[in-house]
Formats: sequence, structure tokens, C-alpha cells
Amino acid sequence: HIQVTVVDLNEQRIIDWNDPNTDNIPIYEPGLSEIVLEARGRNLFFSTEVEKAIDEAQVIFISVNTPTKTYGKGKGMAADLKYIELCARQIAKVAKQNKIVVEKSTLPVRTAEAIKSILDNTGNGVQFQILSNPEFLAEGTAVTDLLNPDRILIGGDSTPEGEAAINALVDVYANWVNKDKILTTNVWSSELSKLTANAFLAQRISSINAMSELCEKTGADVNEVARAIGMDSRIGPKFLKASVGFGGSCFQKDILNLVYIAKSYGLNEVADYWEQVIIMNDHQKRRFSNKIVQTLYNTVADKKITFLGWAFKKDTNDTRESAAIYVADDLINEQAKISVYDPKVSRNKMMSDLDYLETRPAEENAKSLTTFGNVYDACRGSHAIAVLTEWDEFTTYDWQKIYESMHKPAFVFDGRNILNAKELQSIGFVYNGIGS
Ligand code: UGA
Repeated sequence: HIQVTVVDLNEQRIIDWNDPNTDNIPIYEPGLSEIVLEARGRNLFFSTEVEKAIDEAQVIFISVNTPTKTYGKGKGMAADLKYIELCARQIAKVAKQNKIVVEKSTLPVRTAEAIKSILDNTGNGVQFQILSNPEFLAEGTAVTDLLNPDRILIGGDSTPEGEAAINALVDVYANWVNKDKILTTNVWSSELSKLTANAFLAQRISSINAMSELCEKTGADVNEVARAIGMDSRIGPKFLKASVGFGGSCFQKDILNLVYIAKSYGLNEVADYWEQVIIMNDHQKRRFSNKIVQTLYNTVADKKITFLGWAFKKDTNDTRESAAIYVADDLINEQAKISVYDPKVSRNKMMSDLDYLETRPAEENAKSLTTFGNVYDACRGSHAIAVLTEWDEFTTYDWQKIYESMHKPAFVFDGRNILNAKELQSIGFVYNGIGS
């Protein structure tokens, strides 16, 4: 019974979301195309009529991106809020009735203040209530996370109008989420909780990745260590998978943002503490590419190295900050020839990811990276395989057949620890996992 209209200035994007075949919508996410198929045209609409949608809505979610700033003060660390400000100004210009404005994008703490100031000072005298309602779903499991969230967080003012706005949003979620999972706080707690949650999650990965290097030196196995510590109910088993490093659009950006905020308050120790999570993650990616070079007799020049996976995690076609990009960049510096198979990522995307780093001319990237539509072609004639994404299908291949088609000795660098090391070794592969 709630009408949802998604608006975007980008016409092509809206055309894509309205594609009659919902398998072609721009984001691959298990279960998403089915939901769009069911709801689109009934109470879910995609449109470029931004002003009309603002005018008609009672609640407006600001869900634009907040990338890391690439210029000026806070370059490389602070969140770029220009899209947020544009949204706020447009809402202020159009709104003729009171509106609830919800921050859905991940924002630095106290952004609501800026939004409120723009709305109140440029608006038509109508009342705006600003709520913070950060999103905690993860890519690849977005639909299940949305349907069964651990919690919904809503921050708002403690004035009667603020409380009424909070209750209006609680009532929306209460349609499918149990009320005891809906948490209400003040706006600043809500904004900061989002950054804190991502910082804690990323910290767990950097912590286990730090131990993975120590495991490789000592003969311990990081998977066994993770299992052993995860059984302590205070630590818990999730997010302890050692890997080539975390990627995605959120962890790095949000931690940099947190570091920037801490520094801006002069809290240098707090800033350094969290920055170490990023330093460790960068180290882990570089360590992985170094290991490939060292193991292949200190030279990969003109050797074919096959990447299984390019996405930053399985079940998504998102590649933002994917470890694969950085590992490929390092290996291309060493003049390796990279071939890639990823079930969902297009060649264009891979090329634009590499070109974005501006390490070398685009033509050189294009010559150094070849893509394949299936794993067997991708691996034929290669010296080594590097697993960069944990796609389930990688565990189901005919590894004997792959081995026979490769240069010998044939190496596997399992950046996700998903393959069966013993089985691969018995076939003849030289297997290198993370932290073993
Ligand atoms: C993350 C958070 O998990 C979500 O709660 C949050 O809402 C989201 O950011 C966001 O801020 O929008 P996401 O980046 O989609 O979600 O994906 P994650 O599942 O957190 O994975 C991030 C990266 O960490 C991936 O590269 C993944 O492979 C890696 N990872 C994850 C590990 O290397 N080891 C693990 O044990 C878990």
C-alpha cells in the first residue's frame, strides 16, 4: 500500500531499470529482478521526473552516492557531499508541503545539520524533519538482508515533530520488520553508528589478514586459527575469513571518512588507530601480488596469469575497490599478461577499473588484459591461477582438465581460500592459500 518512486537525473539509468526484461536491470543481486518484476508498475516506479516525485512524496530518501573527495580540503579522505547538497537544494525548491527527509546515503556525522540548514534557508517556508536511516545490507545478500534485517536504525530529533517523523518511518518498516528490531536514536548516533559498524567489520578482516601473514611464517593455518577463535562466543565466527583484502564501495571509504572526522577534531590517536585497518588491507593486496611474482621465480614478464573473478565479492557484478584491480595493476607493472574470467563482470568494466588508476595508457591496459567467457579457455596455457573472488562455481570445475591445459609447474594462488588444497595438490598443482 506504499507507493515507491525511484528518481534519477540519469535518463539511461532509468531506462535500464524499466527494461521489460528484469534480468537486464543494471545491478545483479540474487532475488532482485524477481522483486522488480513483481512490484514495478504496481507500487514501484522508476522515473526521471524528479520534481514531480518530490512534490508528491511525504517521505523522501536521499540515496545519492557520497564518494571519497578527489579534490580540495579532505582530498582522498573526506566524503564528497556535493550530490547530497544538490538533492537538498532541489527538495527545498520544489516542496510545497511538509516533508520528512531521510538520509539513506552513508554520511559523516552531523551532515543532517547541513541538510537542515539548506532546507530551512532556501525552502518555501514548509517544515522539514531530517531523519538518519543508514542501510546495513551487504551486496550479494541485499534482498535477504532487506527482508530479514538484524536491525533498522532510525535517528531523529527528540522534539514532538521529530518523534512524529520517526514514528512515521517506523510504521513503514513495521510492515515487515518486528518492532523490537527497530532502534531509534538521536541523529548523530545514527550517523556515527553506520561508520562504526563498517569500521568494526573491516577491522575484523584486517585483524585476521594480519594473522594470515604470521601464519605463513610460523606454519599455523589461518583457517584453523579463525575457527578456534570464532568458537569463543564473545568473538563469534563471522567475518573472519582471511582474504586477499576487502573491497567494495563502503569499507575503505567509510574508514577514511572516520579517520578524517577524528583528525578534524584533533583526535590523532583515534585517527591512526582506524587508519591502520586500511594500511593492513593495502599491504595484504600488495603481499598477494608480490607472492605471485616471487613464487614464479621472480619474474612474470610475458607469463599468462589467469584471474578467477574480478568482482569484490561473490554474487555481485560490483567491482568498486576490488582487490583484483590492484593485483592486476601490480602484475601488469611486472609485464604479466592477465586473463580474466568472471561470471558477471564485463570486459568494459574491468578496463575502466584499470584505466581509472591512471598507472599507464589505456592502450597498454587493453593489451595486457584479456577476458574469457569460460574458465577453461581462460586457464589454457597459463602459468598460474589467482582466485580473486569467491564465486561458488569455482569449486565445481574439472581441475584435472585445467591442470592438463596449463604450463608446468602449474600454480594456484587462492586469494579466498575456497579451493580444496589437498585435491589440487594431488592433481599436481603447487597450491598457495592465504595464511597457510
Ligand atoms: C558492507 C557491510 O557488510 C554492510 O553491512 C554495509 O551496509 C555495506 O558495507 C555498506 O556500507 O553499504 P559490502 O561492502 O556490500 O557490505 O560487503 P561485505 O560482505 O561487507 O564484504 C566487503 C569485503 O570484505 C568483500 O571484499 C569481502 O569479500 C571481504 N570479506 C568479508 C573478507 O575478506 N573476509 C570476510 O570474512 C568477510
